[in-house]
Amino acid sequence: MIHKCLFPVAGYGTRFLPATKSSPKEMLPVVNKPLIEYAAQEAVDAGLTRLGFVTGRGKRAIEDHFDMNYELEDQIRGTGKEDLIQPTRDLIEACEFSYTRQKEMKGLGHAILTGETLIGDEPFAVVLADDLCIADGDGVLMQMVKLFRQFRCSIVAVEEVPDDHIHQYGVVAGEPLKDGVYRITDMIEKPSKEEAPSNLGIIGRYILTPDIFDVLRETEPGKNGELQITDALKKQAQEGCVLAYRFKGRRFDCGSIDGFVDATNHCYEKFYKNGL
Ligand code: G1P
Repeated sequence: MIHKCLFPVAGYGTRFLPATKSSPKEMLPVVNKPLIEYAAQEAVDAGLTRLGFVTGRGKRAIEDHFDMNYELEDQIRGTGKEDLIQPTRDLIEACEFSYTRQKEMKGLGHAILTGETLIGDEPFAVVLADDLCIADGDGVLMQMVKLFRQFRCSIVAVEEVPDDHIHQYGVVAGEPLKDGVYRITDMIEKPSKEEAPSNLGIIGRYILTPDIFDVLRETEPGKNGELQITDALKKQAQEGCVLAYRFKGRRFDCGSIDGFVDATNHCYEKFYKNGL
C-alpha cells in the first residue's frame, strides 16, 4: 500500500517576489495556514504519514514549521492560542518527516528522481503544494489512493483547462475507462493550444509506481531543457498503464496571484469566517 508522499519544494516562486525573496513560496499563508501544511494535511487524510521533502537553498522554514518550537509553546501555554496550533501539533505527531536537497533545478522529473532516496521501492504520491485542492468528503489524494487500490498503476489528477492556459500544463489524451477515469494514450508537457491533445491538464497530484525512477533515469531532458515527469509517465503509459483522473473538488493555482487570491477568499468563506 501507499505510505509515502513526496513534496518537491525546491522552486523559487519568482512570481511572488518580493514575498519569496527569503521565504519559501510554500510557506505563504492562505488565511492563517501555510500552503505546505494544507498539502501535508491532505496526505495525512489519505493515510500517508511518511512525508519526504525535496528542498533547496532558502527552504529551512519548512523544516522548522514541522518541528516543535519550545519557546513559542512556552509562551502560549494555557492561552486560547493553543487551539490555533493544535492541528499543526497533531500533524507533527502523526508523521515522520525526511528531507533531501535538490542541488540544481532541472525540472519536476529531476526533483522526483532526487526524492528516490526518501522513497525507495514502493508506490508513492507526489503533491505540488502550490496547487491547493479543497474537496467536500474525501480529499483529492484520498480519491486517488482509492483508485490506486483498484488499478495499481500510476495516476495523474487532471482538470479541464481553458485554451489560453493550456501551455502551462502537462496535457493528456486518453480513452475513457469509467466515470472520470481515462487510460492515457498520449501526454505532452506544456503544448501550444494547437498541439494540445485535449483540454485535460495535469494538476499537482500524482501517484507513481517506483519503476518511474528507472524510467526517469533513461528520459532525456524535454521542454525547457528540463527532465519532465510528463515525458517519463508517457513512457510508462506506452509500456503499461497510466490513468488520468478527473478529481472531485476545486483546485486553486496558488502559484499565480489570481489563484492565490481566489483560494484565500474561498478558504476564508469555507473555514474561517464563522470563527477563527
Ligand atoms: C508542473 C508539471 C506540469 C503540471 C503542473 C501542475 O509544471 O510539469 O505537467 O501540469 O506542474 O501544476 P510547473 O507548474 O511546475 O511548471
